[in-house]
Amino acid sequence: MPPAIELFHVAKSYPLYRSLSAGFKHFLLHLPRSLQDLRAPRHLALRDITLSIAPGEAVGFIGGNGAGKSTLLGLMAGVLSPTTGRITVRGRVCPLLELGAGFHFELTGRDNILLNGVLLGLTRTEIQARLEAIVAYAELEAFIDQPIRTYSSGMLARLGFAVAAHLDPEILLVDETLAVGDARFQKKCQATMAAFRQAGVTLVLVSHNMDDVRAVCSRAIWLDRGQVRLDGDPTTVIDAYLQETSHAPAGP
Ligand SMILES: Nc1ncnc2c1ncn2[C@@H]1O[C@H](COP(=O)(O)OP(=O)(O)OP(=O)(O)O)[C@@H](O)[C@H]1O
Ligand SMILES: [Mg+2]
Repeated sequence: MPPAIELFHVAKSYPLYRSLSAGFKHFLLHLPRSLQDLRAPRHLALRDITLSIAPGEAVGFIGGNGAGKSTLLGLMAGVLSPTTGRITVRGRVCPLLELGAGFHFELTGRDNILLNGVLLGLTRTEIQARLEAIVAYAELEAFIDQPIRTYSSGMLARLGFAVAAHLDPEILLVDETLAVGDARFQKKCQATMAAFRQAGVTLVLVSHNMDDVRAVCSRAIWLDRGQVRLDGDPTTVIDAYLQETSHAPAGP
């Protein structure tokens, strides 16, 4: 079977924005130079990543803040495009990216479920048929007709995961958001991900919670400043990562 996800020499850079600290007049007076300054510096969030994920694999990405994990997931979800390199994804992707991504804050929970379902390719009837199950899973019955701007971050995470979990994903991408759910909901998500794994769904999980990665994943990949530092079984990779962070000096 061909890989579910393939990255071939993928790099992603973002422009670095300079503030107009010297003032707008200075900016205009030195226009050619200023424009060059604005354009030139770029931050390489991912450098030369080549990896493939087989169908049914459950892969956890770990690494420090800013290592490039969310960028990588954004590329897999197709919401970002690589600066160089190639990425191929085979199968129906259900992304669960940053908190509230893909949601409209003025709409109610119910309308957001409908909207997301349509965006992910289901018909209105198909979504209607699952609506009650989604609401019950999220345990948001009492709030489902409120605009989601009134939701707490944990409630948003519940809604997001409930939607993604009920749309027959072949590939489920989960970024961090689960961390804001309460302990009971986190357990529920873990159980759902384990069931997906049993069913052969490809899982990609980004997490700072090593217990989640251990519980859910068959493989872990440590990203370090935009590069793959270690790729292997979760125990080995997590141990190496924790070993290094325990020696690192505490932050500023
Ligand atoms: N939209 C953007 N514009 C500019 N730079 C960005 C953007 N998104 C991310 N970056 C930069 O890319 C790098 C990688 O960011 P990313 O969000 O992928 O890290 P991460 O591993 O998910 O970190 P965290 O653990 O904090 O979530 C960071 O240096 C960040 O500043
Ligand atoms: Mg992130």
